[in-house]
Amino acid sequence: MKIVIGNDHSAVEMKNEIREYVKAKGYEVIDVGTNSGESCDYPLYGEKVGRAVASQEADYGIAICGTGIGIGIAAGKVKGVRVCTCSEPYSARLSRMHNNTNVLTFGARVVGIEMAKMIVDEWLDNVYEGGRHERRVLQLMEIEER
Ligand code: RB5
Repeated sequence: MKIVIGNDHSAVEMKNEIREYVKAKGYEVIDVGTNSGESCDYPLYGEKVGRAVASQEADYGIAICGTGIGIGIAAGKVKGVRVCTCSEPYSARLSRMHNNTNVLTFGARVVGIEMAKMIVDEWLDNVYEGGRHERRVLQLMEIEER
């Protein structure tokens, strides 16, 4: 299974640690940058992550900026992407089980590395339940058609 990971300048160090953590969990990882601490614009990297997921180049995406918010808004603009921006593991878990999210974002200036790893674990280790949630997830996708 493939994970695409992207970030802005505020999250290079955290991205590097999370990329290695995700690899160690057995996933193949595509790193779309940035790998520079020089100031850059998060929409570019959010879009890269979103497009890789929407085109099925990757199964899931992880995007990190200062808060996780800007890069999450950007990724969520791509059709077919369902983003969760999480600063704790419970929401990450439920977003997978109920909302079938395919992009996870968080903030390098909001959570520490150990919390980030717990968030990633809950998100990657749980599965979409379908059932009563399927109708609602389909309704989310229908919004993109209107
Ligand atoms: C960059 O300074 C910061 O605005 C960005 O990383 C992010 O937090 C935006 O949502």
